[in-house]
Amino acid sequence: MTKEYSKFPILKVKVCPGSKVYWVYIGSKAHQQIQPIVQRMKKISALVLITNSRIQKLHGVQVINELKGIGVKLEIITIPEGETSKSLKEAERVLNLLIEKDIDRHALIIGFGGGVIGDFSGFIAATYQRGLKFGLIPTTLLSAVDASVGGKVAVNLEKGKNMVGAFHQPSFVLQDLDFLKTLSQRDYLSGVAEVIKHALIGDPVLLKNLLAEPTLVKSRNEKMLEIMVARSVRYKNSIVSRDEREKGLRQVLNFGHTVGHAIESFKNYQGITHGEAVSIGMVSALLLSNRIFKFPLPEIERVINLLRQLGLPLWAEDVPAEGIIEHLKYDKKRHKSETFFVLLKKPTQPKFGIPVPGKILEEVLQFQKHKL
Ligand SMILES: NC(=O)c1ccc[n+]([C@@H]2O[C@H](COP(=O)([O-])OP(=O)(O)OC[C@H]3O[C@@H](n4cnc5c(N)ncnc54)[C@H](O)[C@@H]3O)[C@@H](O)[C@H]2O)c1
Ligand SMILES: [Zn+2]
Repeated sequence: MTKEYSKFPILKVKVCPGSKVYWVYIGSKAHQQIQPIVQRMKKISALVLITNSRIQKLHGVQVINELKGIGVKLEIITIPEGETSKSLKEAERVLNLLIEKDIDRHALIIGFGGGVIGDFSGFIAATYQRGLKFGLIPTTLLSAVDASVGGKVAVNLEKGKNMVGAFHQPSFVLQDLDFLKTLSQRDYLSGVAEVIKHALIGDPVLLKNLLAEPTLVKSRNEKMLEIMVARSVRYKNSIVSRDEREKGLRQVLNFGHTVGHAIESFKNYQGITHGEAVSIGMVSALLLSNRIFKFPLPEIERVINLLRQLGLPLWAEDVPAEGIIEHLKYDKKRHKSETFFVLLKKPTQPKFGIPVPGKILEEVLQFQKHKL
């Protein structure tokens, strides 16, 4: 259940993923809510801010000043920038650091950064002394609209992404939209791809907004940004609150991700953002939806036009269709020659676990590569 009300200028979305209820605060200067929030939490012995040096340099002063005002011991831990920090090795270093700094189990971990920092700090919070409270201050659009909602926390193993982790819900999420202003356009658009995904699978109003105003989306118009973040959080919450541990329904959030993940894996996670891979994967899923469910072609054209106008890719030039099919062999959702997809019967009507025969998939990928 989602209850939303506007308390200008901060929008609050109540997230109820089953095991816990917490609020997501969205708006300019949302980070200033941190003092009253932490002061309302009982018995907090210390604050541990986990971030990286780029984010600390860009926005750290504002957040750190607020935290200092709380009057509890504050430790700041930075990890190197990038996905490689999401490792057991880095986690072990930070966990040891927490012991050295005398952090007990009443401390509050705060992840301040993009999805990497969010997943990593959540992993630390889930594991240190069998679990600490944690809060998130996302600084990328991708973490604001996706990674910060749902409670999945993880680090990577050499043999696979997000292979060690837990479901550990935060106590609060502060989405300060001002922080997104310094994001590179490429990282910004990576988050927009997940917003388009949410719109396509479950939010007709958001879809209408995006299709009508691509220039406002591209230029990070403040009102549009607020709509994209608030509606995405609300939609993702509506799914994870019904299926916290991904037993079924939550799979719809993987729309565009079957082919997307295969592309990322083919490219060894180099030279392509997650959102770019998802953008390509959504086009594949839409074309497959047309073949399997007769999803209307004019709707697909409208989405393709939107992706084009935003500068999101429809295909990765250096990836052969065969390369994607090869990498789908490692997909957990594959059985014999069929791969299981999330497809759309109509806009905002997703169906998960749909088997797609190899031949149809190959035809669609070849069409996508050569005809779009
Ligand atoms: N837990 C989940 O449900 C979930 C969902 C989706 C993605 N993820 C994870 O999220 C990660 C990707 O997240 P991401 O796309 O945010 O990448 P990221 O965290 O690596 O951030 C992208 C880049 O932007 C920089 N950055 C962050 N905030 C900035 C700002 N405000 N201004 C300028 N630069 C800034 C970062 O330092 C980094 O270089 C992946 O590890 C993925 O597995 C998790
Ligand atoms: Zn994704």
